[in-house]
Amino acid sequence: MYHSKITGLGYYVPDNIVTNDDLSKIMDTNDEWIQERTGIQERRHVNTPEETTTSMGVKAAKVAIERAGLATDDIDFVIFATLSPDYYFPGPGVLVQRDLGLRTVGALDIRNQCSGFVYALSVADQFIKTGMYKNILVIGSEVHSRGLDMTTRGRGVSVIFGDGAGAAVLSRTEDTSKGILSTHLHSEGQYAEELALVAPGMGKRWVTDIIKDNNPEDESYYPHMNGQFVFKNAVVRFSEVIMEGLQANNLQVSDIDMLIPHQANLRISQFIQQKFRLPDDKVYNNIQQYGNTTAASIPIALTEAWEKGKIKEGDVVVLAAFGSGFTWGSVIIRW
Ligand code: UT7
Repeated sequence: MYHSKITGLGYYVPDNIVTNDDLSKIMDTNDEWIQERTGIQERRHVNTPEETTTSMGVKAAKVAIERAGLATDDIDFVIFATLSPDYYFPGPGVLVQRDLGLRTVGALDIRNQCSGFVYALSVADQFIKTGMYKNILVIGSEVHSRGLDMTTRGRGVSVIFGDGAGAAVLSRTEDTSKGILSTHLHSEGQYAEELALVAPGMGKRWVTDIIKDNNPEDESYYPHMNGQFVFKNAVVRFSEVIMEGLQANNLQVSDIDMLIPHQANLRISQFIQQKFRLPDDKVYNNIQQYGNTTAASIPIALTEAWEKGKIKEGDVVVLAAFGSGFTWGSVIIRW
């Protein structure tokens, strides 16, 4: 019987800081609106062609592998979560295998947006529990900035998202009191279009027509979000899935040592914190600095919290996410 344990964590964000004031110069928005509604003060945007979802993921992964005390040859499998892959296909998993010079290990791409890292950890956990793999590299990385509508038309979405990457190495342990205790995954596809980027996709149109149209007014190339509807669902599902995870392990809210919610909106995190009556030092948020980095937000926040000494051996750490799909999930960890 095995458990999987996070043995290494790393993150990477581009140097280029974009403040709310910077955005207000290119669209009709302002610092006050963004901070009041989202808590975001600034975010990172890639500003060199070399920086991609894969390249940032690779940088984060190198740190995580080193901190795990492993060599690249020790990695048995790669799982990469993103909604902003370098290519339509193949996904970035194989690019990581190439760029890190890994053995010809399997590489899996996860398409679960804001819940991507939680889904990825769950998949990795199953592979380790069955004994199939010993060390799995799990990455969440996003380049949003190249795909956002940076005009006033897109302001309801574009001010929220940022670029960055985070990575974790999951390793086999025989100590079944530690590591990932359980994962809980959900979806509700009837709301798929409430937060979606529908093009490029093969759903309704021929690629030749899309090329012929070449229409800059075509909004389907930008993410669409029904913000208030997403917000309302998020607060309900976050709460449910955290409780589901705690109950599955006979834990109480008071047992939580650190809650790392997906950084969707500071108001969502604060709502959850108040609902569970958690003190400030038991919830980690960094959306103020990075915006919403989707699949990267949990591994970046987890790495930062760990680096700051906020997570200690034996702690109960809860990860929870909600986003496009809708998909949501939680991971309960005994550190
Ligand atoms: O990570 C994936 C999951 N995503 C989420 O969880 C996001 C959930 N939703 C949200 O965080 C919030 O709904 C938003 C932050 C996206 C929007 O906040 P809101 O309080 O729901 O605002 P709203 O969309 O209802 O817009 C209110 C007003 C509108 O103007 P009118 O119609 O009242 O005149 C918008 O046009 O704010 C306007 N607005 C803006 N104003 C300045 C929308 N975006 C902006 C902006 N700057 N960037």
